[in-house]
Amino acid sequence: MGKVTEVKHPLIQHKLTMMRQQETGSKDFRELLTEITILLGYEVTKDMQLVDVEIETPVCKTTAKVLEGKKLAIVPILRAGIGMVDGMTTLLPAAKVGHLGLYRDPETLKPVEYYCKMPEDMESRDVLIIDPMLATGGSSVAAIDVIKRIGAKSIKLVNLVAAPEGIAEVQKYHDDVDIFVASIDEKLNDHGYIVPGLGDAGDRLFGTK
Ligand code: PRP
Ligand code: URA
Repeated sequence: MGKVTEVKHPLIQHKLTMMRQQETGSKDFRELLTEITILLGYEVTKDMQLVDVEIETPVCKTTAKVLEGKKLAIVPILRAGIGMVDGMTTLLPAAKVGHLGLYRDPETLKPVEYYCKMPEDMESRDVLIIDPMLATGGSSVAAIDVIKRIGAKSIKLVNLVAAPEGIAEVQKYHDDVDIFVASIDEKLNDHGYIVPGLGDAGDRLFGTK
């Protein structure tokens, strides 16, 4: 079974509380999401492999560690996933970014795919799918389906807020995927919104309604 990590760092909890508040506007919402993504990214990248290199400091020669250089792909689920791209690419500047457009049909809550543009060599990349909201899990399951179909084998899912129902759905269909999340909230409401959640992440990021 994939691991679920709720990253309960005090800075993350404080910043997430600000994001949840309905009076927080788009500018602050965007900045806070970037900051939390960087903090989440610290945990997500904890198992990255290192190799030894010989270097020379101003004082002496020594052996030191650098990243092994495994290729990465960051895949935001549009739209709201875009709000996590800057944070992730700040940490991982060499990663390629693929875009996957999915929206939830408001009636059925089922994901509808409308765009997909991935780096060419996805089968050899470790993939980080990013989306602030894991609600019913439909969008994340569909995203992982797409990424696996392209050939990627190593996939992690990074969310800001998740409902227990969404986590269970991802585990049901993709039990090899590790999930990292800033908060596992209480439940979904009758409209498929996370409770207490933060509302519609895409609308709050981009100022739409
Ligand atoms: C939101 C969110 C997720 C999805 C989560 O996107 O960003 O992608 O809902 O819900 P689920 O787990 O029930 O599938 P939305 O469909 O609102 O599209 P948008 O980001 O374009 O507004
Ligand atoms: N999508 C969102 O943006 N928010 C929710 O609470 C659920 C799905």
